Amino acid sequence: MSEAHLPEKWESAVGFDPYRVRDDFPILKETFRRGKRGELIVPLVYLDNAATTQKPRQVIQALVDYYEHANANVHRAIHTLGDRATELYEESRRKLARFIGAASEREIVFTRGTTEAINLVAAAWGRKFLKPGDEILLTEMEHHSNLIPWQLLAKEKQLTLRFIPFAEDGTLVLDNLEDYFTPRTRLLAITHMSNVFGTINPIQQIVAVAHQHDVPVLVDGAQSVPHMPVNVQELDCDFFALSGHKMCGPTGIGALYAKEKWLEAMDPYHGGGEMIRSVWLDRATWNDIPYKFEAGTPNIAGAVGLAAAVDYLSHIGMENIARYEKLLTQYALEQLQTVGNVRIFGQAPERGGVISFYVGNIHPHDVAQFLDADGIAIRAGHHCAQPIMRKLGIPATSRASFYFYNTPQEVDRLVQSLIKMKEFFGDGF
Ligand code: ALA
Repeated sequence: MSEAHLPEKWESAVGFDPYRVRDDFPILKETFRRGKRGELIVPLVYLDNAATTQKPRQVIQALVDYYEHANANVHRAIHTLGDRATELYEESRRKLARFIGAASEREIVFTRGTTEAINLVAAAWGRKFLKPGDEILLTEMEHHSNLIPWQLLAKEKQLTLRFIPFAEDGTLVLDNLEDYFTPRTRLLAITHMSNVFGTINPIQQIVAVAHQHDVPVLVDGAQSVPHMPVNVQELDCDFFALSGHKMCGPTGIGALYAKEKWLEAMDPYHGGGEMIRSVWLDRATWNDIPYKFEAGTPNIAGAVGLAAAVDYLSHIGMENIARYEKLLTQYALEQLQTVGNVRIFGQAPERGGVISFYVGNIHPHDVAQFLDADGIAIRAGHHCAQPIMRKLGIPATSRASFYFYNTPQEVDRLVQSLIKMKEFFGDGF
C-alpha cells in the first residue's frame, strides 16, 4: 500500500481518519539516525502498543494544565486549589465509571494500574474470604499480573490454583467449561484479551456459567478496554482491572472496578491517610468506598491525564477503534504470510490487534533488533507470560501490536523489513 490513505473499502467502515489522528501524537513524528555515520534518517513505526501506548497532545496538555493551574492535594484542603484538584480527580472517576459502564463512580478505585488492582483484590478480598483448601480458577493464558498475586495468596492461605487450558490456536478450551468448577472454586480470574495471542475471550458467557456456580469473576481488562467498547454491567463481572497507560493515559494510573457489594465487604488494602474515618492510637474506622482503598496522596495528575484519555478515545469512538483495528490486524496477518516461513501464535476468530510470531529460526531478540535498525518498534520476549512460552516450547516470540494511530503503510514497512531480514540471513533463515 503505497499512498498515505486507507483502502477505499475500509474508509466507510472506519468512521475516523487515522492519518489525521496521528497529528495529535507528537512522538509519532520521531525519527532516528541510522547508518555508519548517522547519514540515514528513519521514521518511527511504533508497534509495541500492548506494552504501552503513545499519548496525544490533549493528554499531555491536561497534565501541564493541571500542574500549572490546579495542583494541590485532594479531599484535604479548604482552599480554592484544593477544590479544583478534588473536582478534577473526582470528575476523572465519574468519566471512567461511565466509560466502562459501571453503575456508580463509587465502584471505581484508582490504582497504579492493572497489576495493583489485581493485587488489591487478592489481598483485600482473598485474605478475607478464602480458606485453606479453597480453589482459584485461572487460565493458562494469563499475564504474570493475573497469576503471581494468586500464587502468593495460594501459598499464604494453602489454596489450590486450577487452570483452564488453551488449545493450539490460542483459544481457551471451553467446551467443558462447567467441569472446571468444583464445590471448592471461590473465584475465577481471567484475561479479557490475551497479550500474547490477541484472543478475545467470551467473558459474558464465562461469567454467566461462573455465577451459576456462585463463583465471582475478576477480569483482567488491560488489553481489552483500550481497544473495544466495554460495559462491566453487561459483562456482569465482579471485578475488572485496567491500566491508563495502555489507553493513551499516563503511566502509574489505572483502576479497579468492583461491584459495590464487594467493596463494602472487603477490608482495606493499604493503611494511611484518607482511607480512615476516625483514628485512635490503637484502632481506626474506615472511610466510605471507594476512598477506603485509596490510602495516601493518590496520583492526582495521573487521574486527570486518564480523564483526558477517556475523552479522547470517546471522541473517536470505541466502536470505530475496534472496527479499524480489526481491519488493520487482518491486513497485517495476510501481509505477514508474504514474508514466508512466519509462524503466527494465536488464530482465534475473535481477536484484537496483537500478533505474536516467529520468523524462520531467528531468535525474536534478533528480529526486534533488525527491525529497530529500520525504526520499527516491536516487543520480543516472553511478554510477562512465561507459562505460555513453556507450553508453546519456545523461549520468546516477536510481537507486533497495533493501535488506532497505526496505518497499513506501517504494516507494509514491517513486512518489507522482515523480507530484508530474510535476505540478510539467507539460508540461516
Ligand atoms: N503487559 C505488557 C505487555 O504485554 C507489559 O507488553
